[in-house]
Amino acid sequence: MKKLEQLYEGKAKKIFKTDEEDRYWVEYKDDATAFNGEKKGTILDKGIVNNKMSAILFKLLEAHGIPTHFESLINDREQYVKAVKILPLEVIVRNVAAGSLAKRLGLEEGVVMKETVLEFCYKDDALGDPMINEYHIYAMEFATPEQVEKIKKMSLIVNEVLVKFFLEHGLKLIDFKLEFGVYKGEVILADEISPDTCRLWDAVTNEKMDKDRFRRDLGGVEETYQAVLSRIQG
Ligand code: TMP
Repeated sequence: MKKLEQLYEGKAKKIFKTDEEDRYWVEYKDDATAFNGEKKGTILDKGIVNNKMSAILFKLLEAHGIPTHFESLINDREQYVKAVKILPLEVIVRNVAAGSLAKRLGLEEGVVMKETVLEFCYKDDALGDPMINEYHIYAMEFATPEQVEKIKKMSLIVNEVLVKFFLEHGLKLIDFKLEFGVYKGEVILADEISPDTCRLWDAVTNEKMDKDRFRRDLGGVEETYQAVLSRIQG
């Protein structure tokens, strides 16, 4: 497959056309942002970790019946994916109170919730990805009720599979963000799953092993990304 013109550059990835109409070429960057782009930096080799980790996790999810955009790795930083049309939604799945949920509801980070919480945000950087509910989604036609039903079901299965997988590798999955796209009329899982998009805490010490190290200036950022990759590869 040939890499053709760039279609889009996001905060963490570049998407290119290919000579196959239904495939994109994704390049993972080392650029890191937080707080809707207010904080900027570089995490050396983050692109490699996130590319490889997403490949491992999307293959695992496919094996559990979740359709994903992942096709194959090209090299350390790049992968082929199905040419999806991304729905303008960020789906947040939470098992343990942390981050914006802890702040919003005045909870201490680390409180295990009785049930898994799903949240939707409208994917719009200029607006800071505001939280929305299903009424907004249908009123603004961001997705159909059928698509949202599938998204909710898939997100909960993804959570079950990933919680178990990470725990087997010594990590607690606190929360994460998913994006979905439409491919040949069907909703499939897209984007990435990486320490940028998950909160992962060491299962024994609760040490933060994700992008919060960058967001909160905790140090050891690069080492932590590498450690997460080696754990899940091991
Ligand atoms: P939050 O607690 O800041 O709302 O984040 C919830 C989860 O979503 C956390 O695992 C980080 C992830 N996330 C993203 O992947 N992209 C984003 O832009 C934000 C705000 C959070």
